[in-house]
Amino acid sequence: MAMSQAALKVEKVLGHGDNATTAQDITNPSKDNAGDPSDKMKALAWMGKGKVEIVEALKPKVMENRDVIVKVTGSTVCGSDLHLLHGAVVELEKGDILGHEFCGIVDEVGSEVTNLKKGQRVVASFQIACGDCYYCKQKLSSQCEKTNSNTLENAMYGGRTAGMFGYSHFTGGFAGGQAEYTRVPYGDVNLLSLPDNVPDEQGLFLSDVLATSWHAVVDTGVKKGDVVAIWGAGPIGQMAADFSILNGASRVIMVDSNWRLDYVKSKYPNIETLDYSALGKGESVTSKLKELTNNRGPDISIECAAGEYAKGWAHYFEMLLGLETDTSEIVNEMITSTRNFGSCGITGVYVGFTNHFNIGSLMERGIRLIGNGQAPVHKYWDSLLKMIQDGQIEPLKMVSHRVRLEDLDKVYYKFENKEDGMQKVYVETRFSAPAAKGSPGLTTY
Ligand SMILES: NC(=O)c1ccc[n+]([C@@H]2O[C@H](COP(=O)([O-])OP(=O)(O)OC[C@H]3O[C@@H](n4cnc5c(N)ncnc54)[C@H](O)[C@@H]3O)[C@@H](O)[C@H]2O)c1
Ligand SMILES: [Zn+2]
Ligand SMILES: [Zn+2]
Repeated sequence: MAMSQAALKVEKVLGHGDNATTAQDITNPSKDNAGDPSDKMKALAWMGKGKVEIVEALKPKVMENRDVIVKVTGSTVCGSDLHLLHGAVVELEKGDILGHEFCGIVDEVGSEVTNLKKGQRVVASFQIACGDCYYCKQKLSSQCEKTNSNTLENAMYGGRTAGMFGYSHFTGGFAGGQAEYTRVPYGDVNLLSLPDNVPDEQGLFLSDVLATSWHAVVDTGVKKGDVVAIWGAGPIGQMAADFSILNGASRVIMVDSNWRLDYVKSKYPNIETLDYSALGKGESVTSKLKELTNNRGPDISIECAAGEYAKGWAHYFEMLLGLETDTSEIVNEMITSTRNFGSCGITGVYVGFTNHFNIGSLMERGIRLIGNGQAPVHKYWDSLLKMIQDGQIEPLKMVSHRVRLEDLDKVYYKFENKEDGMQKVYVETRFSAPAAKGSPGLTTY
């Protein structure tokens, strides 16, 4: 039995906590009496390790008074979805609808929602927050205490995150936004209204990428003049590079091993790149970064890759044998590369435990290692929206393709294999408006 399913069984035995104030485990409206029997929709569902499919499901209905049903006009795929596809994140069930980044049009509102009306354009945050618990009051929405009652997460981590859309039963079990409709619990706080001058193709990315990258930069502490190194040149890494410069970094060096580094160079000529697959004999990422920075190392290092991507055989086998869930290679590289008393932030997803962690270098050289956490979107999305309106940030820079929801299963595999120059995609549905200016043309598969 795959670990993902074993974990789900354990959680079923343990039972849920009693902290959640919104219904748990509604990952597909066709189950659990959560759909409207008279209306159907298309959605992307997880069908087992390595397998996703476009399925037909019932349109979700209002179940709680603060629910909003959103008619989805834009969705996308995140590096985090690959961790679900690979079964690295536990507790998925066959048929679970994925997707945690989406925008659309308000279709229906529950009786207690007074700030949104049918027809309004909105974007959802990837996390589901209640709006008034200890963390929500501080806008630390990703750590809401009232939307996820998973006991396994609580036991493993000593605390829980908020519930999340399309991100397994481990985070509450909520149907996601890679669908034609999505139910948004606490819709009055988890939806941000989009103004007319911000098209979906820009506003969509307020769900996750923009807030996550911004948080990675400010939470790790990038200051004016800093040299910043970033591991992972995917969409999150690219925006983190962009935002490091906006926050005053004097230099940004991106570490990865594929064509994305060329993509970065074409969009950001002033960003330096380090291809670890092209290192010479006796060279390492750390030795190369020292060489580039007066032998001292970057002031700040940010992890935008993930713990499931082992580089060497040792960690590959340890993970395969269940001796660890995540590799420590990238974090160790960050620690040894960073200058003494510098800071390292981890934004890429790590699930559980790791071996061979270089605690000595961390302690002796005074490295500050920061778990950036799931990013608290509500803390940043108003100001990021304003920055889009002012032209300070351009989310379309990272978007490589526009695709259709009905092709999304094929897109997952292309995104996974980094084929066709694919990175951030804009997924349109039958409800989308024609492509906005600057958006790539439609690719069908
Ligand atoms: N903390 C949060 O709130 C949050 C939110 C969104 C995404 N994430 C996570 O951020 C990470 C990046 O997301 P993305 O959408 O850009 O993903 P992505 O999969 O598109 O990009 C990841 C990049 O990391 C690179 N990489 C893999 N191993 C590497 C290594 N050893 N050294 C350097 N680079 C390496 C890959 O080649 C790839 O280009 C993912 O783990 C994702 O789950 C976190
Ligand atoms: Zn994401
Ligand atoms: Zn809350």
